[in-house]
Amino acid sequence: MGIVCGHSIWHRLISLLYLVQFALAYQQLSEETLQNLPRPGNDFDIRNGKLLAPILRTRIPGTPGSTAVLNHFNDFFKTTLPDWTIDFQNSTSKTPVSGNKEVPFVNFIASRDPPWASKGDVGRLTLVAHYDSKYTPEGFIGAIDSAAPCAMIMHAVRSIDAALTRKWKDMEAQGDALDAGLDAYTGIQVLFLDGEEAFQTWTNSDSLYGARSLAETWGETSHSPMAIFRTPLSSISLFMLLDLLGSKNPLIQSYFPTTHWAYQSLADLEGRLRKLKQFKSSPNYDSETGQTVDEPQWLADAEKGEHLIKAWTTIQDDHIPFLRRGVDILHIIDTPDRTGFPPVWHTLNDDGEHLDLPTVEDWSILVTAFAAEWMELEGYFDGDAQDTPEKMYTRKTEL
Ligand SMILES: *[C@@H]1O[C@H](CO)[C@@H](O)[C@H](O)[C@H]1NC(C)=O
Ligand SMILES: [Zn+2]
Repeated sequence: MGIVCGHSIWHRLISLLYLVQFALAYQQLSEETLQNLPRPGNDFDIRNGKLLAPILRTRIPGTPGSTAVLNHFNDFFKTTLPDWTIDFQNSTSKTPVSGNKEVPFVNFIASRDPPWASKGDVGRLTLVAHYDSKYTPEGFIGAIDSAAPCAMIMHAVRSIDAALTRKWKDMEAQGDALDAGLDAYTGIQVLFLDGEEAFQTWTNSDSLYGARSLAETWGETSHSPMAIFRTPLSSISLFMLLDLLGSKNPLIQSYFPTTHWAYQSLADLEGRLRKLKQFKSSPNYDSETGQTVDEPQWLADAEKGEHLIKAWTTIQDDHIPFLRRGVDILHIIDTPDRTGFPPVWHTLNDDGEHLDLPTVEDWSILVTAFAAEWMELEGYFDGDAQDTPEKMYTRKTEL
């Protein structure tokens, strides 16, 4: 696998601006907000849950199962998140098992930008999972790989959407959106990628079909010359990839020194949610007593200094074609013993019945919190509706 490419000066400058902005304007979610984040309810039920159940089926690229899952994503955004823009990025490729036949790969892309910003000026938090399932063994479902991560992302964006609307309405009403710095040019997008899995055995050409095509296409698509970001690829402020999540007691390592700060923000939110007894998979969940049982964090590398993080990793996943092109990656993947994947990985046991649903729900809450903090949504969730717009926005800009 490749080593990280050199970033362009411009890219470095943008990253730096982001870091500065993050450091200056970063506002933590309050305890009240963390305690009141929307819950998925029955939506992760593996038989009839609105979000997850439709993904728990075989969905091999180019088959009706794949189309059905794409339709599910499309319907979800169209009906639940009508302010989002939906796109598809399509490609075809032969595979080792398709002979001379071209297999179609369809990446699903949904995004939401501040209403005043032109496309090339928006840096986007990018939440990513793959939705295809493996060709073999026959009947493979891929619940942690990656049906559940797709559903977690769906819940997260649904949970912050109203707050995002409220915040951007306020900024427009105040008329000083343009003075609000990079916060006024921060958007969010979801990538559900196709063809991550190898059809036969993993090689550079038999794997990552959708990700390779999208990274290449986005790297070659130029925004207008005056745009802040040169290409859709450089518009990715963070590529947050979720994979192999939904088993009990996950362990998530930090892989990239350049994004260790984002890993630490996520770990910090995990710690705060645990302390507030919001994690259903924890023995402390909702406990009435003041005491809490000690428990390990899923994001176990938060205390490591960034110089201790290896600059590259041997784990091949959808981030690789983006990493090679200089995109900042946060790879959230479960390695329970630090060297291997969860026991159900790539077996028929990776199905709905083997998911740990409290853990799936906790992940969805954690991703929601991370996205909410990134989009600076403190003060814009329902519980704060009694605040006047002026009060909210003034309070924020003064920080
Ligand atoms: C890509 O494929 C999807 C699903 O088949 C289709 O709905 C869409 O129109 C295609 N998009 C383009 C740009 O060809
Ligand atoms: Zn896999």
